[in-house]
Amino acid sequence: MQLPIVLQKLESPSDGLPILDILDQSQLPLQIVRLPLSTPEAIQEAIRSLRVRGAPAIGGAAALGLAVCACRFPERTREAFLAHLHQTGDFLKAARPTAVNLAWAIDRCLKRVMESSGEVPALQQLLLEEAQAIIDEDRALCERIGEAGLAVLHPHVSVLTHCNAGALATCGIGTALAPIYKAAEKGWQPVVYSDETRPLLQGARLTAWELSTCGIPVTTICDSMAAQVMREGKIDVVIVGADRVAANGDAANKIGTYQLAIAAQFHHIPFYVAFPYSTIDATLPDGSLIPIEQRSADEIQHCPNAAVYNPAFDVTPHELITGYITERGLLKQLQ
Ligand code: MRU
Repeated sequence: MQLPIVLQKLESPSDGLPILDILDQSQLPLQIVRLPLSTPEAIQEAIRSLRVRGAPAIGGAAALGLAVCACRFPERTREAFLAHLHQTGDFLKAARPTAVNLAWAIDRCLKRVMESSGEVPALQQLLLEEAQAIIDEDRALCERIGEAGLAVLHPHVSVLTHCNAGALATCGIGTALAPIYKAAEKGWQPVVYSDETRPLLQGARLTAWELSTCGIPVTTICDSMAAQVMREGKIDVVIVGADRVAANGDAANKIGTYQLAIAAQFHHIPFYVAFPYSTIDATLPDGSLIPIEQRSADEIQHCPNAAVYNPAFDVTPHELITGYITERGLLKQLQ
């Protein structure tokens, strides 16, 4: 199985300094384009424009992005370097508000350098190491989420998923798609229905491309078809990812997830959310406090005289969630 390399550290051919190399997901599946990034502006733009997207991948890109930017800071004193680093961290955090992984990854890197008494070159090295640790840990977490999720599948299971919570959204085999990869590895024959995921079509473009490239049968449906496909008995289980999960288990994910959970409950189909524990924002008692990204009207506007409302995420209440697939196993509830 050949999974795409979503992001990695490379060396710039011109000066030998590290750069952030990403697969530009806005071009998939038509073109495979890789982008070398090394400035805060380019990295923020790549996250904002969903060239790199999916909560864990955004976290990895932000951490490695912060490190490659810091390797180019002109400041030579520790104090000035740290001031510039915090300013860049805040700038990158502002790229997208909903996925907790973005701020979490930047804060983890900042904490690591603040705990060190080293000078600038040592701090630059620490940042690169911490970013790589975040990426490597995410890869390992995806494996464990995949193993845990096998408990809700069977050899001929049919799974409905929304958006893309696969390899393209993480540094490993994904969250919602991880159990499907593990099932295929065991010789099971999972089939996947993928909502197209309007307006940016992460399901139709990314999940369909990722799974078909890996030889897993995938069928694209319009978001509005999900309830009908459930009624036809084509779906055994729904598995989605999450961008932020509140302490009570309410889960924010791509817009359209909530209505899927309602339809699943009506049809008595289990509905699971898969994520690493770092996606839980324990500071938020419930999902009403999760910040929801509002995106540009251009993404859905066809008639210039009509107003447009374009929230990129919704929150599924915990009452609609059958269980949580995490690296700590399959949990019925978080609290
Ligand atoms: O806007 P996107 O494409 O970044 O939204 C992605 C999702 O909603 C994913 O389901 C979520 O980030 C989980 S990814 C493992």
